[in-house]
Amino acid sequence: MTTTSAPVTSDAVIFRSNAGLGVEPIHVAPPGRGQIRVDVRATGVCHSDLHIVNGDWPANKPLVLGHEAAGVVTDTGPEVDGLAVGDHVVLSWFAPCGRCLNCAAGRAWLCTGTKALENTLPDGSTAYTDAEGHGLWPYLGLGTFTKSVIVPETAAIAVPQELPFEVGALLGCSVTTGVGAVVNTARVPLGSSAVVIGCGGVGLSIIMGLKLIGANPIIAVDLSADKLAKAASLGATSTLRGDQVDVTSYLQEHFGGVDFAFEAIGRVSTIESMPSMLAAGGTAVLVGMTAAGSRASIDPFDLADQGKSILGCNYGSSVAKIDIPKLANLYLAGRLPLDGLIGRIRPLDEAAAALEDLRQGKGLRSILIPS
Ligand code: APR
Ligand code: ZN
Repeated sequence: MTTTSAPVTSDAVIFRSNAGLGVEPIHVAPPGRGQIRVDVRATGVCHSDLHIVNGDWPANKPLVLGHEAAGVVTDTGPEVDGLAVGDHVVLSWFAPCGRCLNCAAGRAWLCTGTKALENTLPDGSTAYTDAEGHGLWPYLGLGTFTKSVIVPETAAIAVPQELPFEVGALLGCSVTTGVGAVVNTARVPLGSSAVVIGCGGVGLSIIMGLKLIGANPIIAVDLSADKLAKAASLGATSTLRGDQVDVTSYLQEHFGGVDFAFEAIGRVSTIESMPSMLAAGGTAVLVGMTAAGSRASIDPFDLADQGKSILGCNYGSSVAKIDIPKLANLYLAGRLPLDGLIGRIRPLDEAAAALEDLRQGKGLRSILIPS
């Protein structure tokens, strides 16, 4: 069924310049071909939003921030056939084109045809304009820090109605990335030892994934005692303060190195130290995203001699349409305690404060509720 409606006005968090963020009313066009309108009920504040605000990554400006969200379909454009008004959806920031060779090979996370990474809808356009009629780009093709979003049907994954929106929001990015890093990218075997460095939304999701597949031991590293306490409650078998302990020596002394090391900060010096944390044959998984243009130095002899690997991981090597419903069902079955990831729930206009908390490493994942 196709429904069409007039444009709506919706407050949005906009990144115009490095001077900061603003909340402004924007106009949101009706959904075009293959697009839907979604009423955002919850949207997570992710470090990738902070990377943009920090200027770590180049981005089109002005940009409507936000890329981790869940909501309800309120409107469908022409040629939308897989979703209907009233469906509950999780938004995935990696809307695949469905036509490139990587999509054909089932590797949607490596899609070369997506426009999401260019911060536009699939046809190169945006549905958002400011009060003067100037276009505003949707971050990662979504721009979820607003009440009413227009997204391609391919970016919206239907989920059971009983899934809480706050949990659904986290399934859009951090959980899919973290659990996917374990089960898809690294395919960690039962009983493997693993260290997780950085226990934010992504790192804690990695720990949950490791517990789910039966890794042991699971060592969590962070600078914050609160984050480490949460890591222990979600499955870490031991915790280390990165600023108080030499993590590499500790892992070598106590475990002879670990089978898997996951980096969930995006910090070059941590990445450089990962190969030496590994046992022979071990694997380092790069999940955190560094600033663009960063360079890291490794010891290639150690890598070759000890048969160690380094794996890059984007979006947990996940196919949103397959993996998000599976993760939602694991949560609903009580197998993934995703409520444990949720921190402060705040109104949308507190986005800047939530990003500041994230910058300072304060608290768990903030969720914004647009109104
Ligand atoms: N040693 C250990 N832990 C650290 C260090 C350090 N030197 N520096 C920061 N941390 C911890 C922080 O305390 C925080 O708990 O790393 C964690 C990072 O978590 P978040 O800021 O919440 O980031 P998150 O959203 O989880 O994303 C992590 O993955 O997808 C990428 O772009 C994302 O690069 C980012 C990374
Ligand atoms: Zn994210």
